[in-house]
Amino acid sequence: MAEPKENLQMEKIVSLCKRRGFIFQSSEIYGGINGFWDYGPLGAELKRNVKELWWNAMTREREDVAGLEATIIMSPAIWRASGHVDTFSDPMCDCKKCKKRFRADQLCEDQNLTLIKNANGKFELPAGTKCTSCDSKELTEPRPFNLMFKTYVGPVESEDNVAYLRPETAQAIFAQFKNVLETSRQKVPFGIGQIGKAFRNEVTPRNYTFRSREFEQMELEFFIKPDEAIEAIHGSVATVPATGHPGEPQPNWGWQAWHQYWVEERVKFYEGIGLSRDTLGFHHQTPEELAHYARACTDILFKFPFSKKDENGNVKGDELEGIAARSDFDLSQHQRFSGKPMGVFDDELRQAWAKLPKEKQDDLWRRYYENRKNYLTKSAKPDETAEQIQKQATEDANGLAKGQYIPHVIEPSAGVDRLILALIANAYSETTETDAKGKSETTYVMKFHPRIAPIKVGVLPLLKNKPELVKKAIAVRDLLRPWMNVYYDDGGSIGKRYARQDEAGTPFCVTIDFDTLGEKPELLDTVTLRYRDDGRQERLKISELRDWLLARIR
Ligand code: GLY
Repeated sequence: MAEPKENLQMEKIVSLCKRRGFIFQSSEIYGGINGFWDYGPLGAELKRNVKELWWNAMTREREDVAGLEATIIMSPAIWRASGHVDTFSDPMCDCKKCKKRFRADQLCEDQNLTLIKNANGKFELPAGTKCTSCDSKELTEPRPFNLMFKTYVGPVESEDNVAYLRPETAQAIFAQFKNVLETSRQKVPFGIGQIGKAFRNEVTPRNYTFRSREFEQMELEFFIKPDEAIEAIHGSVATVPATGHPGEPQPNWGWQAWHQYWVEERVKFYEGIGLSRDTLGFHHQTPEELAHYARACTDILFKFPFSKKDENGNVKGDELEGIAARSDFDLSQHQRFSGKPMGVFDDELRQAWAKLPKEKQDDLWRRYYENRKNYLTKSAKPDETAEQIQKQATEDANGLAKGQYIPHVIEPSAGVDRLILALIANAYSETTETDAKGKSETTYVMKFHPRIAPIKVGVLPLLKNKPELVKKAIAVRDLLRPWMNVYYDDGGSIGKRYARQDEAGTPFCVTIDFDTLGEKPELLDTVTLRYRDDGRQERLKISELRDWLLARIR
């Protein structure tokens, strides 16, 4: 269960997380359970803040996104439609000598090798691959290992009762698309956001909480019109520069503009919680990396202490979030598997189409037909014939001409736990000072952005044996408590108490001292306000404290 010792920075972070109650091993008193982690008092607050900020930014503060909270166990039919039952697997191999099990791609990567995918889609280990535990070259061929956790619903453990813990929150959004559309009074383009647990039975969980078996996701499925519909209505699809924020959404945006928009919106979100652009990286998936239904996927990366260097010595980072343009694959799959219509009717499209010149209609019809035929061919069931596929694609293209289509989707999908780890790694700072006698002392400050900090303010009476100070400090605590997470601390020297709050990442402390009580009459009912990051202090009126703090923590 212990973290590998080779990464000193990670070791220090793991140690602080345990010591200060950010993260604990799950079931620690029984030796832990690999790939599962608990959040302690500070971690729970940090996580709650991050999720709330995401929820607010993605749903409440937007006109065009609604929220959802679905169950973890759903009909297994959902996972057949989504492709997870058949294809959601990692290649796994075993060392025949020491019996250690590996994810084949990671085993290769750790040796600067690349796993081979042959023409039939089967994986092969490149020559020279060895077991990283015992150095043996006797390894089994890689074989797929499905990552979904299986369980049984009801008292009978039969194949008929198999169900899965969801491996992503996204599918519930697709499955409930029609219900949300009908009840939220939204119209395409609009999104559905969800935060929730997901589970993946990782072959080798690693890098602390980065790759866990139980984790949380924050996912948005943003539904858009197909480009052919945009072109029919607006004459053309807007072109946007390949980089930079494309600005406020426009009616003539196609999938590329929306994709670019969401990448930039998400970067803005990360910047707003303290991850500056230079701590992030980007990976634009290559055509070989893309899922067969995806048109593009941009991963937003964070440079973790364990992130590897490339051949030029640069750290690219590891994935925090993927923003995928998933075409109309997901809703199409659910329509085919459930038999329930997942399309929408768009009267603006119907009217615009009727006014188009015949050549334009034919051009758009043909392009939509080809896209649908490609999708239907790739996801055809074994007994489906080419004629059936062409017939269905024809029906779909005829539907477009009448204002009907299956929405396409842009999916910003973020992992909460890896974001928490990124925020912790980003906040971590230590300073070692050596005094005249040569004695060294290291102090730790978690420099969280005040918006995400687990505790917003520490309230400290200068002395705990002075009832007037304590009474006043409790009054200040109670004044602030309905508005923010406050920590009252009267134990130990004021320096020690500041240091404790620095380690917890508390951005501000207020000290109630004799001036608060009016020792200097002009300072009556003021407190000492101390800043975490530079130790600066100033005086503030108690009557102004709440609004002063709220302006900085929201
Ligand atoms: N829904 C995308 C993912 O879970 O990665």
